[in-house]
Amino acid sequence: MKRREFLASIGGAAAVAPITQVSARIVDDPVGPDLPMPPSRDSLPFRSEPEEPGRLLLDQAWQFHQGDIPFPKIKGHGWSYANAKAGQAQGAAAVNFDDSDWPLVNLPHDWAVDMPFDPDANPSQGYRQRGYAWYRRSLRLDPADRGKYLELQFGAIATNATVWVNGSVAAHNWSGYNSIYIDLTPTARFGDDLNTIAIRVDAEKMEGWWYEGAGLYRHAWLAKRPAVHIQTDGVHADPRRGDDGRWTVPITASLASILERESTATLSAVLSDAEGRTVASGAIEATVPPLGNAEARLELAVPSPRLWSVDDPNLYTLRLSLARPDEAEDRRVLRIGFRTFRFDAEKGFFLNGQPLKIKGTCNHQDHAGVGVAIPDALWEWRIRRLKDMGSNAIRCSHNAPPVELLDACDRLGMLVMDENRNFNTSPDYIEQLRWLVRRDRNRPSVIMWSVFNEEPMQGSEAGYEMVRRMASEVKALDSSRPVTAAMNSGLFAPKNVSQAVDVVGFNYQPDLYDRFHAVHPDVPITSSEDTSAFMTRGAFESDPAKQVFASYDDERSSWGNTHREAWKAVATRPFVAGAFVWTGFDYRGEPSPYEWPSASSFFGIMDLCGFPKTAYWLHRAQWIDDRPLLDLAPHWNWAGREGELITVMAMTNVEWVALFLNGRPLGDRSVDRFEMPRWQVPWEPGRLEAVGYRAGHEVARALVETTGAPVALRLTPDRIVMAGDGEDAQPITVDAIDARGRHVPTAQLPVNFKISGGEIIGLGNGNPNSHEPEKGDSRKLFNGLAQLIVRADPGAGPLRITAQAEELKPGQSTIRRLAASPRAQVPPTPSVQILEGWRQSPASRDKPDPMRKPVDSDMNSWLWLGTGQIEAAQGEGNWISLRATFVARRHVQTNGGTLRFGGIVGRAEIWLDGRKVAAKPEFAEAPLELALPAGEEEHVVTLLVESRPGLVGGLSRPATVGAR
Ligand code: GAL
Repeated sequence: MKRREFLASIGGAAAVAPITQVSARIVDDPVGPDLPMPPSRDSLPFRSEPEEPGRLLLDQAWQFHQGDIPFPKIKGHGWSYANAKAGQAQGAAAVNFDDSDWPLVNLPHDWAVDMPFDPDANPSQGYRQRGYAWYRRSLRLDPADRGKYLELQFGAIATNATVWVNGSVAAHNWSGYNSIYIDLTPTARFGDDLNTIAIRVDAEKMEGWWYEGAGLYRHAWLAKRPAVHIQTDGVHADPRRGDDGRWTVPITASLASILERESTATLSAVLSDAEGRTVASGAIEATVPPLGNAEARLELAVPSPRLWSVDDPNLYTLRLSLARPDEAEDRRVLRIGFRTFRFDAEKGFFLNGQPLKIKGTCNHQDHAGVGVAIPDALWEWRIRRLKDMGSNAIRCSHNAPPVELLDACDRLGMLVMDENRNFNTSPDYIEQLRWLVRRDRNRPSVIMWSVFNEEPMQGSEAGYEMVRRMASEVKALDSSRPVTAAMNSGLFAPKNVSQAVDVVGFNYQPDLYDRFHAVHPDVPITSSEDTSAFMTRGAFESDPAKQVFASYDDERSSWGNTHREAWKAVATRPFVAGAFVWTGFDYRGEPSPYEWPSASSFFGIMDLCGFPKTAYWLHRAQWIDDRPLLDLAPHWNWAGREGELITVMAMTNVEWVALFLNGRPLGDRSVDRFEMPRWQVPWEPGRLEAVGYRAGHEVARALVETTGAPVALRLTPDRIVMAGDGEDAQPITVDAIDARGRHVPTAQLPVNFKISGGEIIGLGNGNPNSHEPEKGDSRKLFNGLAQLIVRADPGAGPLRITAQAEELKPGQSTIRRLAASPRAQVPPTPSVQILEGWRQSPASRDKPDPMRKPVDSDMNSWLWLGTGQIEAAQGEGNWISLRATFVARRHVQTNGGTLRFGGIVGRAEIWLDGRKVAAKPEFAEAPLELALPAGEEEHVVTLLVESRPGLVGGLSRPATVGAR
């Protein structure tokens, strides 16, 4: 369907942007330097069935404090004793810490991208200060969740993190790229007794030489599972093709139990195809010991599956359920794919028996405006951008990617080199590698494990021994994928890492491809990283003083190659499995070869926003064979340069190109796709047109025109519909057009934005030298373009954006927000001050003295009580004294508040700071509330509780302090 009909078919002029705002050019291949992004689509981002029904997102309403909060200096026996006990973390890790005035943030959250650019900060981290921060969250668990296995999950935290749950350390985490799973079950609190999660993040620590972001930048989850359950990342189900050509899905599920006795459960598996038809099923029983693990194994036979490939990424759905009589089932939903692949030392990579040159890019994980806090839909968008260019592979350099990226790769057909971050064989780090393999080994997209990138020990025996150990850990978990390592030297050292891997990754060094292959004809090799060339998007003249690179693919790093050189070296050698261009997208940090003011890289095929540079059209023309493609560089706005020679380059996959300026022929060129044709053209305003031929027939045209001055702004969303699920986000292209509706590639205007029905969560323009804030509502166009990342509000209705610049007609876009059910979230839980540290006196026959307290060195004669814990006192008598001290939170200190006892059992007198303030005359359990005066002092609260036979007095529910 042509674009015009398509817009008409989705109807409603009010609902969609007028057609002139979408594309000025309606041609069969509507993408090109004239409108650098594809026209808008009308589909929602893919949201697959949740992997684990019952797992809730824990993204909302985290309390956030930027900066560190030092722990108090512990002094004195009583405090030292308490500090050493479970549940008694101090300072901001304490259950009772006053976080009531901390702002709330939602995940994913990257605080570094909110920081200003700072010339004193590290260029490698994009001149952003990172520092320390704390997050806290209260979590209310339903009493009905008692008996379930409860797990807290963080996708990743940048960079080092300590997590406390209910005042006890629950995890120390030493990488910013791996998930953290915390078993909440033993110390979980239920009902009004809230759970407290406190996280100290140390983002001063770095694991890379690129921008790493800071904070809880991936999703967090709360998983609630039956007592006997499938463990996190505990399913291995990766189809295998036997030597006889038959396909099976061997399934192993790791089971765990929190029960006190052995238990038997039945694992059932149902595999269905893309149309939902069941193609295989099976079941098996397993016995799980108390607090132990077991593996349930079964195998499904699938006679003739439809294969997964990069062109037809066909997925099957595997539904697993673990059942016990009279118990809820634990369920998992996995998407798997049937494919074979191999690396051949002579002929390169084969997918499903067919040779396939890997056309890959390396990428970091940040995007304009949002840093590393990438909304799920933006991952899909980024993978789509790469696919549109003809790329079929991505290297997750140099760390484990988020699952959302891998989901998009499985679904869209993108091969993945999955990479480990830290080269270290000590237990913590080996566990990071094992986690990566366990998490990702069912994915059809993942074709190799990279254990490291460019390690100085790569040419040594120690490096060899380390990789041997890492490879063996990987093989123990996944026998189907090769292990690789990205080496930039040491390949010919007597003992080196290439001897310990299955596929040798070459970072650069294309001049060694032949030599290595000659010496090791049986060892498969791939480029793991190549190119490292420099371009500034939209610039066609280098200006070292301004730190700008022309986009003609002429400039490169001293260790790298131009895009064309690097690809030629790979493409002309069948034994090199493929290319991984450094990089697909620009990224913050590593502004090589420059430093300040440049803050992000120049290496990308696309800029930080995903706007194409010349390299994009170049690779597209080299990587896509069938469709004729023809694009021209540069733009044709060179007023004042009349008669000067301008270099013109065609990026094309046709055989022959003829170039015309204002109708005059400028000469034909036969096309060498490794080089691409060039002309030197004396500039005059007008139309520069190229006509492409195959077999003597015209098959493609490209046009660049001198435009007039900008008269209006234009907004082009990626999609004209969005899901009103509170999460959907998308990039919106901002450009300026002339009186004839043509994109003005040289506009550099400041633009302001207004939005309703959504939120601008970030802005960018791809200029590595810009220090404009990435949050807010204004941004300059850079070489004609800027980008908004917009998140739709929950619910249905229009999302309207207006762009304004002085003297220009405003640009407008209306996006339809469709009703969509939000993913299940743990509701926000306001933080409450719960009184802790109750001590209970020995029993006495008489009413105790309210002033009596345990001496600081006595840890034994007064009991220690948890919240809501009632315990019979030691000694004779029916009276006890319950005592706690507390400082009210700041708002109560200022305004006064309420002290609320959720439940007191027994008759009681309540004393506050030495004065009797209330009495409870009845024995039966009842709540009690009293006013707390304003004031900063430490309060002492004492309850004198009288029991009677058959009834043990005390605090049956938490006591809290809150606002009046
Ligand atoms: C490589 C390295 C990459 C990046 C690149 C820049 O050596 O692996 O992370 O730094 O150089 O060219």
